[in-house]
Amino acid sequence: MHREKIDRIITEHRQFLDQFNHHVFVCSGLGCPRNDEIRRALERAVQTQHLQDAVLIRKVGCMGLCSAGPLVLIQPQELMYQGVQPEDAEEIIASLGKSPIQRLLLPADLAFFTRQHKNVLRLSGRIDPESLPDYLVAGGYQALLKTLATLQPPDILRSIQDSGLRGRGGAGYPTGLKWATVAKAQGSPKYLICNADEGDPGAFMDRSLLESTPHAILEGMIMAAYAVGASQGFIYIRAEYPLAVQRLKRVIRDAEQNNLLGHSICGSNLNFHIQIRLGAGAFVCGEETALIRSIEGKRGLPRPRPPYPAEKGLWGCPTLINNVETYANIPPLITHGPEWCANLGTDKSRGTKVFALTGRVRHTGLIEVPMGMRLREIVDDIGGGLTEGHTLKAVQTGGPSGGCIPAALLDTPVSYESLNELGSIMGSGGMIVIDETSSMVDIVTYFMAFCRDESCGKCTPCRVGTAQIHNLLIKFQNHRATMADLEMLEWLCDLLKNTSLCGLGQSAPNPVLSALRFFRREFLDCIATEQAHEEVKP
Ligand SMILES: Cc1cc2nc3c(=O)[nH]c(=O)nc-3n(C[C@H](O)[C@H](O)[C@H](O)COP(=O)(O)O)c2cc1C
Ligand code: SF4
Ligand code: FES
Repeated sequence: MHREKIDRIITEHRQFLDQFNHHVFVCSGLGCPRNDEIRRALERAVQTQHLQDAVLIRKVGCMGLCSAGPLVLIQPQELMYQGVQPEDAEEIIASLGKSPIQRLLLPADLAFFTRQHKNVLRLSGRIDPESLPDYLVAGGYQALLKTLATLQPPDILRSIQDSGLRGRGGAGYPTGLKWATVAKAQGSPKYLICNADEGDPGAFMDRSLLESTPHAILEGMIMAAYAVGASQGFIYIRAEYPLAVQRLKRVIRDAEQNNLLGHSICGSNLNFHIQIRLGAGAFVCGEETALIRSIEGKRGLPRPRPPYPAEKGLWGCPTLINNVETYANIPPLITHGPEWCANLGTDKSRGTKVFALTGRVRHTGLIEVPMGMRLREIVDDIGGGLTEGHTLKAVQTGGPSGGCIPAALLDTPVSYESLNELGSIMGSGGMIVIDETSSMVDIVTYFMAFCRDESCGKCTPCRVGTAQIHNLLIKFQNHRATMADLEMLEWLCDLLKNTSLCGLGQSAPNPVLSALRFFRREFLDCIATEQAHEEVKP
């Protein structure tokens, strides 16, 4: 699609949108139940009140504060209604242009919204996820057009490197370095993969991004393909994400029909196609080498690295593999320039990070904050503090590969380095707030059961070790453990970390080790003998 055609779509769509005095945005994310019913009820109310020419009902992506959902946003007044039900529809439509409905109104100055810094989530909840004209009117695909018209692949590689962006899939590998390695790797064709497997329990960042702004992921992927010289891309997504898959199919088709994907994209010399590959829901298939085997049609088993996928990936060819959120960062980064990302966050952790904030805080949902923000600000300000009558015990970050940060260390800034120092990780962005009612032994037992079930069984330390560690943890849960069990637990964790073949086994002990470091007393309390009490004597 050439610029003139894009400009025409933007002008026509703006004219269409401007006809209406009020736009009513209904969240269509999975976190807001009955949203289809609510939207239909609002549409009916518009008809019964004969307001078809004045009011437009729109389906949008997640607005973030899922715990207050279903959410409805009224534009241009920027009024947000919470806990909306289909029965409220007539009243909402009747109130447009008049006084807001106080019982449904969310305070405009809620810290949940004002303390965030939205970058990849900036259009989430603001556009119809499936509408190309909506994305274009919001400035979408402008970064791609700028790239194709004015930048050469080395310019983009330099920008990504200068920005200091690190992969958002968990390990935090420098994105610019990975892209540069693929760009200069020998072999063709070159492939590109978007890792949308998202297997961490409690994580829904990637799903939400794909459901809310799927065009933004495509745009990031197309720009990456141009930068590294890839001609074929794959989005590997688990089959348990049907809404995201349905929306992706739709936007890929629209992008193809409008020459944003395919041959000679926007009249340039770039040819790039994207296909979707469905995963069956194995956590290990998120690991890059296992994922690659899965796309090749084989069983998703990891293999040792090197060689890294950047040099030998899909079918032995150079392959760029990045996470959904990493690709979503690319269009704003190219639009605003590398300094913009570099100026946000900390020295080594730049930009913003999306988290799925869950657990015992008042406000849960999807948030985006600058790197370096303190955990306390996330829990107390954005999360609104703990639910009535409860006190904070810890914040778990990084899912089954992460760890627990105790309440005493809540002033820790959220960065790759500071979380690692505490034996946890940023991971892909799961953040669970834990209160005094939860047992840390129970929590780590849950994560270890998850890793045991998801272990692919290829290497012995992980296959046998996760089961043994889990058995030991059950002994602690049942107050039947001994000091020898505690020693064995630590020894096994160490063994697993150092001898497992892939990241699943290497990181499975992290929650246990971090709980032992900060909440050792809880393990000792589960020891049946006198020894535990002797152990803690000064
Ligand atoms: C067991 C395991 C599961 C993983 N799951 C995911 C996942 O679901 N999504 C993801 O992007 N990365 C996942 N990773 C990390 C990927 O292997 C890879 O590092 C990442 O996709 C690279 O993208 P990035 O550089 O943009 O972070 C996983 C790693 C391991 C060891
Ligand atoms: S560490 Fe676990 S998941 Fe990874 S290869 Fe070994 S058995 Fe499979
Ligand atoms: S899904 Fe509706 S606000 Fe998150």
